[in-house]
Amino acid sequence: MTYQEQYANYLAQLEDTLKAVCDEQLPVDSKVGQAARYSLLAGGKRIRAILTMACCELLQGDLQAATRFACAVEMVHCFSLIHDDLPCMDDDDYRRGKPSCHKAYDEATALLAGDALLNAAFEVIATTSTSDTAKLGAIRALSQGTGLQGMIYGQELDMAFEHGLPTEEDLRKIHRNKTGALINASVQMGLCAGNASEQDKRILQEFAYGIGLVFQIVDDVLDVTSTSEELGKPVGSDAENGKVTFATLYQPEQAMEMARQLNNQICTVLHQAYGQRADFLIQLAELLLSRKH
Ligand code: IPE
Ligand code: IPE
Ligand code: MG
Ligand code: MG
Ligand code: MG
Repeated sequence: MTYQEQYANYLAQLEDTLKAVCDEQLPVDSKVGQAARYSLLAGGKRIRAILTMACCELLQGDLQAATRFACAVEMVHCFSLIHDDLPCMDDDDYRRGKPSCHKAYDEATALLAGDALLNAAFEVIATTSTSDTAKLGAIRALSQGTGLQGMIYGQELDMAFEHGLPTEEDLRKIHRNKTGALINASVQMGLCAGNASEQDKRILQEFAYGIGLVFQIVDDVLDVTSTSEELGKPVGSDAENGKVTFATLYQPEQAMEMARQLNNQICTVLHQAYGQRADFLIQLAELLLSRKH
């Protein structure tokens, strides 16, 4: 199977399961439920979900369970985006080519839709038919990646440095938390659905934080070099909010060169550990580097 075919298979399975999960968790007779569905089913690259599924398959795990875990991570990611776009945070009116949740609905509804998605994500894991050990592992990985040891702490730092002068070290810390931690949760949840050794967990954690940093550097660069049509979200948002990013601390081209080097290192390590079995993850990492949206 080619990379494209594999990706399309994962995506089709994910989108089907996401719709089923919406029917379980997000009632349409609630405006908050409708808003949560509006944002969750608006597309997106689904790379966190694909990572969960691909890491599960790397270790011959239970793909059906991993697909529900993948839905959970996309729900948390979607909650983070809804809140990230709110006026009290980045104040962005477009997301995934459509009005942001608080523009399509209203601020209070968007706030609650984010909260609802966060909670529903954990119920999706709890109601997955797999072993309690796998579920508990997934719940732990997702809660760590989301909370004050992960994404939420990263968002706190990101806001705290607005109009400040973060160093490269500060930016790495922000990115590791706000983006890397949830990407690592995605990977670790895939491993929970498989039979991972402690060594697998360590190797793939390095990979996850590595691609997380590359991913956020590219996001910072695209905010400067892309168009809102291509991105599906506003460009220039970081500058407007007085944020120093990799694309402004360095030149965008320099930042991309750092990302390329980092990506080469990460992929080499993964290939050494898993040989051809890592091909899908390596191609995914390459594409995250050259992505245009
Ligand atoms: C956007 O994530 C937020 C960041 C961490 C940079 P994505 O670029 O994965 O957003 P979607 O899910 O594809 O819309
Ligand atoms: C977002 O970082 C990270 C989150 C936890 C949502 P950004 O603020 O750069 O993401 P975009 O550019 O709005 O997607
Ligand atoms: Mg932000
Ligand atoms: Mg933002
Ligand atoms: Mg950004």
